[in-house]
Amino acid sequence: MAFDHRKYIAFEPVRKTNRRWPDRVIERTPQWCAVDLRDGNQALVKPMTVAQKQRLFELLVKLGFKEIEIGFPAASQPDFDFCRKLIEEHRIPDDVKIQVLTQARPELIARTYEALEGAKKAIVHVYNSTSTVQREQVFGLDRAGIRDIAVKGAEVVKAHASERPDTEWTFQYSPESFTGTELDFAAEVIDAVNDVWRPDQGQPVVINLPATVEMATPNVFADQIEWICDRVKYREHISISVHTHNDRGCAVAAAELAVMAGADRVEGTLMGNGERTGNMDLVTMAMNLYSQGVDPLLDLSGMAEISDVVEACTEIATHPRHPYAGELVFTAFSGSHQDAIRKCLALRKQDDDPWQVAYLPIDPRDLGRRYEEVVRINSQSGKGGVAYILERDYNISLPRWLQIEFSKVVQREAETGGGEIDSLTIHRLFERRYLKVNPAWELKSYDLHRDEAGVHAQLSYGEEGRLEQLEGRGLGAVEAVSAALEQTRGIRIAVEAYDEFALGEGTDANALACIRLQVNGEPRSAAALAEDTTSATLQALLSAVGHSVIQNGSRAYAEELAPSVDA
Ligand code: KIV
Ligand code: ZN
Repeated sequence: MAFDHRKYIAFEPVRKTNRRWPDRVIERTPQWCAVDLRDGNQALVKPMTVAQKQRLFELLVKLGFKEIEIGFPAASQPDFDFCRKLIEEHRIPDDVKIQVLTQARPELIARTYEALEGAKKAIVHVYNSTSTVQREQVFGLDRAGIRDIAVKGAEVVKAHASERPDTEWTFQYSPESFTGTELDFAAEVIDAVNDVWRPDQGQPVVINLPATVEMATPNVFADQIEWICDRVKYREHISISVHTHNDRGCAVAAAELAVMAGADRVEGTLMGNGERTGNMDLVTMAMNLYSQGVDPLLDLSGMAEISDVVEACTEIATHPRHPYAGELVFTAFSGSHQDAIRKCLALRKQDDDPWQVAYLPIDPRDLGRRYEEVVRINSQSGKGGVAYILERDYNISLPRWLQIEFSKVVQREAETGGGEIDSLTIHRLFERRYLKVNPAWELKSYDLHRDEAGVHAQLSYGEEGRLEQLEGRGLGAVEAVSAALEQTRGIRIAVEAYDEFALGEGTDANALACIRLQVNGEPRSAAALAEDTTSATLQALLSAVGHSVIQNGSRAYAEELAPSVDA
């Protein structure tokens, strides 16, 4: 049987009793290092061209990265050439350190220094693999053999640097496959490397601990990091860095817990591009910090540009649900979510009020997104979302009863079409179902007189040449006209609800009225826009009646207009 979990061995957890990291909170942003141009690039089907690399480098600089791994110059001629180009064309800002990777092999280290000739500052990142599997099955070496490779590499790195004193050198060592390495052995190799580099004597050193393959839950990785931080020599003189991959989908979580466990620095890539399931996503981790009120020391406010450039350089599309960056991550289709978002946004008084909006972990506008994108309508949406769109885009506020009724009309339309319904379509539906005036029921004029007994109404409606006259009394205008319709035309009308709204600026009409009647025992609703609220209300009344009456043989017209209230 191919699908057989018994083939796998559970990861041995770290036997630790003095865990401190679970109680920590990240209050400061770690030192970031972007490895898009090396690790990210090495994972692409089509590695980046020089032009693509340059575009991505410029974006990383613009976002505020101060440490950028630009390639593996000893392993790739394009990486070598790119490194030379950046240096020779003076494209590296003074406050940015470029970093380059090399295996711990003397000839590769020598070539790496050739690539870095003339750099103001640089991080030479040297690695060798230390895990049990790699030692035993790939290299066929024992612990001492693997440690010697690292020490020799450290010596060669130091020797080349001392020949080039004009560059500010930082040395970085990675015990590659750290997560699969026994912790005591990892510490032994790190100490041996640092005994060569002597960070205590002023040499800047980064010790980078990679989850080359993510092998366990993030808490295990945090234990590994805390263990190393507690045991290695020269701890206060070195920067502990983590470099997590996403094999189990937890690269960000692992890096976050690692920072809680003592890591000072985090390597990753924008949108998490990288080997297999990718590297740690810098955008997500930085935005996670931001959403907790921690300055990520990166400017991610132009998220659309970031994802455009990453897409253009990696030729990998950003997933629409990608945290913070995806097209759909600030959109609510579900009715209850839309309702909650709408209410919370309406309660916000000032832009700098603390952000507390249901379903939106951060303010979309911080990333250059618009509130317009937050509420979108499909068959899952409810009354709140539909009402929000009409209000936001057309200045039409609906009473609650009409919100409920109309949202069902919209839902039916969405179910028929199967997809999203845009704002214009919603407005057209509303016009067609509620606002459209049957010419035979168009209000032409009215006259209202008030006295102690109530209102005396005279009204004319209909098409030119076929005008109808009404006259009646009631407690208010609606009752008076309803009574007149019953007396003169035998139409029984019971008013169930009506609401009037003054409209804001930017519309031709000044008032909107919405009415719901029982007409001869059938529910009918309509709305009307007019210059004043009385005209709007009387037109809404006539329209609702007109929707249910066979007029000029236009039964089909009446059917089309009449919303089925029980829907
Ligand atoms: O994933 C990894 O182990 C690496 C190292 C070279 C740091 O990319
Ligand atoms: Zn990696």
